[in-house]
Amino acid sequence: MSKGKISIDKHFIRNTAVDDRIFSAFVEHLGDVIYNGIYNPSHPQANEDGFRKDVIDLVKNLQLTGIRYPGGNYICSYNWEDTVGPAEERPVRADLAWQQTEPNTVGLAEFEKWTKAVGSSLIMAVNLSTRGAVDAANLVEYCNHPGGTYYSDLRRKHGHENPYGIKVWCVGNEVDGPWNIGTKRAEVYGWDAAEAAKAMRRIDKDIELVAVGSSGTQLPTYLEWDRVVLEHVYDSCDFISLHRYMGMPDIDNPSTYDQKDIGDYLELAGRLERNIKDVVAACDYVKGRKHSDKTMYISMDEYNVIDIIPDDEQNHQEKKLWETGPSGHSRGLSMKSTLLFGLSMLTLLRHSDRIRIACQSILINGGGLVMCEGNDDAWVNGSYYIFQHCSLYGRGKVLEEVQEGTLYNTKTCNDVSALDSVCIYHEDEQELDIFVVNKSGEQMDFTLTPAFFRELEPIEHLVVTAENPEAHNSAEHKDVIQSVSRNDIISKENRIQCKLDKYSWNVLRIKER
Ligand code: AHR
Repeated sequence: MSKGKISIDKHFIRNTAVDDRIFSAFVEHLGDVIYNGIYNPSHPQANEDGFRKDVIDLVKNLQLTGIRYPGGNYICSYNWEDTVGPAEERPVRADLAWQQTEPNTVGLAEFEKWTKAVGSSLIMAVNLSTRGAVDAANLVEYCNHPGGTYYSDLRRKHGHENPYGIKVWCVGNEVDGPWNIGTKRAEVYGWDAAEAAKAMRRIDKDIELVAVGSSGTQLPTYLEWDRVVLEHVYDSCDFISLHRYMGMPDIDNPSTYDQKDIGDYLELAGRLERNIKDVVAACDYVKGRKHSDKTMYISMDEYNVIDIIPDDEQNHQEKKLWETGPSGHSRGLSMKSTLLFGLSMLTLLRHSDRIRIACQSILINGGGLVMCEGNDDAWVNGSYYIFQHCSLYGRGKVLEEVQEGTLYNTKTCNDVSALDSVCIYHEDEQELDIFVVNKSGEQMDFTLTPAFFRELEPIEHLVVTAENPEAHNSAEHKDVIQSVSRNDIISKENRIQCKLDKYSWNVLRIKER
């Protein structure tokens, strides 16, 4: 049996309010995310717009604040003008990022409608790889200007009298990545982004702008890119982006840890934490150099865990060229990756003083939260429940905590704690929600010692786990990993006690009497 203990004090607050936009996601014109994913007019569950109702319902239950769109790498050859107006008149394009055929059947208006149907709002990206400041400003004009100008009247002609009012805009995507068309040097991108920001804000001064930060720690330009870009955009942008796909060989370099050792694998969350601290340091360095009073925030606008695919499966994956909506990697996320996802969400919440936007990526298919290939019924990964728990119960004050967990050694790390946690206090509701991961392969005896709270009364204990850390959900077996509610929290002498399953994600929901 391992042990875990957290001590908290009602007055010791780490962050007074988590920004709601941390509970956002990313949707790209990539593989079967849009076509054959959310949009499939021949699916039995399709609505009058061709969108799958089962997918809409599942996404709705996540209470996403924002959805970043339309790319991703897709943005590098994106012509927004192709995606508006009568669908039958839109050009079919060769998408240079993914070498897919883009029919533009789902364009800006359609996707905006879908975003509304799932109860969310758009976070829009502009192409700053192969297009420029004026094209970006024209898109802002089309979306946000009330009328009386060419592009705003074009929107009205297209049947959208009222502006879309899109608040957050990403000024490009991964422009430092050699995999993209239109890669730029930091000085060039920084200059272009500052000019684009100027033009976009001339149309709408109230928008918030995200500049492109380093796309990955593996790049030789890592952090130096951020410094140079920030020198250019510090006054004109509000956020710098950070992307992280944990478990991806390029990024996490499998020769530096043992992929088969679960302990080692779960410690990859520590690399995300380091990545965040690095970018915060770059922001604050530039702030200092500029003698600025402004704080630069992080938009972690793409993050996920990518399961390691066994070699035999990987070798059989052929790249399909010039298809529309080709099915991609439809394997469910393993329980150990689900836990790593949970640890990432804890890291995000812990750093929510500087991370103000975060988009889980990719929302649909490709190892995302919701899986909906072909004409099958939709199903969800274990990460869906973790995201949902955080979205429903994570919007409050983040408390400081002292954590003590049984220490153990992994293959390459010594003295790692079996416990990780974040405590959220909802003052108005007088509710405490404690997210806890038991990283160990043993049941955990967990205790919470709270100070200055009134008497505490358990509400429920939500658990996500599976007997086998390699187990995953699939179209055939949808509920191998699910969220269950238990009634096993003990409140005794103002301490909270509970047993946590091995390798489990937990939410302890407690109320002040
Ligand atoms: O989500 C897939 C891709 O990952 C995105 O297009 C890109 O921004 C990132 O490299």
